[in-house]
Amino acid sequence: MQLALRAARLGLGTAAPNPSVGAVIADEATGEVISVGTTAPGGRPHAEPQATAAAGASARGKTMYVTLEPCSHVGHTPPCVEAVLAAGVSRVVVAQEDPDPRVAGRGLDRLRQEGVAVTRGVLGDEARWLTRGHIVRVTERRPMIQLKLAVGPDGTVPRGGSGTPLFVTGEIARAHGHMLRARADAILVGAGTVRDDDPDLTCRLPGLAGRSPVRVVLAGNGLPAPSCRLARTCRQVPVWIMAPARTIAAEGDAAQALRDAGCRLFEVSEVGGRPWLPSLCEALVGEGITRLLVEGGPSLWKSFAQAGLVDEVRLFQSRPDAASTTGQSSDSGDFLGSLLPGLDLTAVDRRRLGPDDMTTLRHQPPRT
Ligand SMILES: NC(=O)c1ccc[n+]([C@@H]2O[C@H](COP(=O)([O-])OP(=O)(O)OC[C@H]3O[C@@H](n4cnc5c(N)ncnc54)[C@H](OP(=O)(O)O)[C@@H]3O)[C@@H](O)[C@H]2O)c1
Repeated sequence: MQLALRAARLGLGTAAPNPSVGAVIADEATGEVISVGTTAPGGRPHAEPQATAAAGASARGKTMYVTLEPCSHVGHTPPCVEAVLAAGVSRVVVAQEDPDPRVAGRGLDRLRQEGVAVTRGVLGDEARWLTRGHIVRVTERRPMIQLKLAVGPDGTVPRGGSGTPLFVTGEIARAHGHMLRARADAILVGAGTVRDDDPDLTCRLPGLAGRSPVRVVLAGNGLPAPSCRLARTCRQVPVWIMAPARTIAAEGDAAQALRDAGCRLFEVSEVGGRPWLPSLCEALVGEGITRLLVEGGPSLWKSFAQAGLVDEVRLFQSRPDAASTTGQSSDSGDFLGSLLPGLDLTAVDRRRLGPDDMTTLRHQPPRT
């Protein structure tokens, strides 16, 4: 199952609107791995038929490990359970059931009816986090939401403003941030970050330029300038601008110029004079987005925190150098409470990335 999870991780950011699933066919008697499958880019073919096709006749009588219950309904592709049955595997080990009401245990029932031994819940917690985008899309009509914050040693967020991003952290941390982009279906910033930084928001890791996610801007009272970098490059990597109808109407010329440049404009509803985040989530889910990376800035982080719309926080913090006045990093608990009010966060991982630290925190407990 560890190998199946690793295979699933490879497809994060490319499998939407489907979940990225990993499937492994193995011989339990010898420990031999016969084949491995990952959901293909665009979500099809699914992992299971790829694993059975690669194994051929060798799958007969063997065991399949799969990170999500095989589907049992006819969608764009035939049901995966039929491919598993046709391959003749005698046992299926799944990490979790699929909450999609079209599946919801029926895949496992069908396997059992045909005499296949079924084991559920193996490494389920890990699989649920990997598949969280799909789970919350189905159960809450929203994507999985990851906030990425980069702060100085004292927890402050230096403001850009010169038309280029101000880098708080070093190269290794920034490369890690680009990996998060590659594993997201969409990346979101507020209009303030576009105004101050004029960012690219692409994935610039060697060999992974093709993995840049859709770039989304949430605007309130003003649209981004049609001359901004995002608009100038939206034919290479799509740009979606989400704004209240009144803002799009009030800025008719800018809206048309952004459309002419190739940006897509979406209307989102407002509450209290601000775009309502559930409406943004609904628009994103409607477009097949399952994993959203919110890069900021601070106003947006705060709004997501106050709405309870956060699954995971990736906190990048530079460490003080020896010459600094205090030589001390602020404890993340000190400043996170004011940056992200109302969240009950638990740190699940902390690592050094060159001169910086990265802490992964999760909003507990997950509701599904
Ligand atoms: N260190 C980091 O990790 C990091 C990351 C990103 C950005 N930044 C920095 O953050 C600064 C910008 O911060 P910011 O807080 O002004 O910008 P922001 O969060 O990017 O954008 C805020 C703007 O987004 C619009 N908005 C629409 N719906 C909103 C909602 N529901 N909640 C909040 N905002 C909403 C509003 O635009 P209107 O004003 O048009 O109504 C609001 O003024 C930049 O200087 C940048 O360098 C730092």
